[in-house]
Amino acid sequence: MVPHILVTGGAGYIGSHTVRVLLQEGFAVTVLDDLSTGHLDAIPEGARSAIGDLRDSAFVARTFAERPVSGVLHFAGAIQVGESTREPLPYWDRNVHASRVLLSAMRDADVQHIVFSSTAAVYGTPERTPIPESAEKRPESPYGETKWAVEQMLAAASRAHGLRYAALRYFNAAGADPGLGERHHPETHLIPLAIDAALGRIGPLTVFGTDWPTPDGTCIRDYVHVHDLARAHVLALSHLQRSGENLAANLGAGVGTSVMEVLREVERATGRSVPHAVGPRRAGDPERLVADIARARAVLSFVPEHGLARIVDDAVASRVRARA
Ligand code: UFG
Repeated sequence: MVPHILVTGGAGYIGSHTVRVLLQEGFAVTVLDDLSTGHLDAIPEGARSAIGDLRDSAFVARTFAERPVSGVLHFAGAIQVGESTREPLPYWDRNVHASRVLLSAMRDADVQHIVFSSTAAVYGTPERTPIPESAEKRPESPYGETKWAVEQMLAAASRAHGLRYAALRYFNAAGADPGLGERHHPETHLIPLAIDAALGRIGPLTVFGTDWPTPDGTCIRDYVHVHDLARAHVLALSHLQRSGENLAANLGAGVGTSVMEVLREVERATGRSVPHAVGPRRAGDPERLVADIARARAVLSFVPEHGLARIVDDAVASRVRARA
């Protein structure tokens, strides 16, 4: 029988890319999404959809009852660091409470494997980079706190009920597969904003600080292609289904890139300059976040295939197409 995977948040950016990879790998997929930030047309053809609220336990129980589920990929959640600082309670509701409802439903339906979308934000400002998974967890925003709380909930449910989980801590997801893309409202991420600035769709980009203690004075991040992230979820699911141990693993490319280096790459890919102005530092930005990806390599055989040039080329193609 074809294994059937429930994907929460499968109409979102990383979720929809992963659904496509799951279908290509022969899994059957149901997407559970409330479309509050996802898009119906991002759900790949071939996936079933269950549109509703993850916090609605009756709806979630019905979804599990419709057909036997062999594993869950849990992407759904609220993701904006700045917003979470201003409005923390919806983050505890949409990230922690919703995950609690999901785990209860999994327990009731006897579903044992879950891959969870965590984040580099659980580390806060790290003492050193590259960051190993064992680094102190000192999240600096309610967003990071709620993701770390869910990791702890997964660990407790594992100890008590035998659930097995993989918590994947994403660094900076970027790029797109053909036909899909990044459609956040509002868009706050560097690469799509830099592309929109180059294409004249928005005004000049603000570079948040050029006085950081880095070689060119701008912040360093670890950009990883969304397709590589998507593949890593399928590897993590297979790891759990092969009776693998619980896992918390960083997912990045393991390469640091500064804001200025990103702008140069966008200029190369678009053939235009990126109009920009230097602004003050953004609150909560650590100067340097680069993943140590040794664990994902060792346990999942995760090897990122696409570097920054491909990430930016694909992001440009998807943004041009989105307005065509
Ligand atoms: N940046 C600018 N100008 C902009 C937007 C971003 O200079 O208009 C800079 C930021 O200061 C940062 C870098 O570009 O140095 C990347 O910023 P993003 O907003 O694209 O991404 P973040 O690194 O802030 O956030 C990502 C994820 C979050 C996650 C966080 C972990 O999007 O979900 O990493 O720290 F929480």
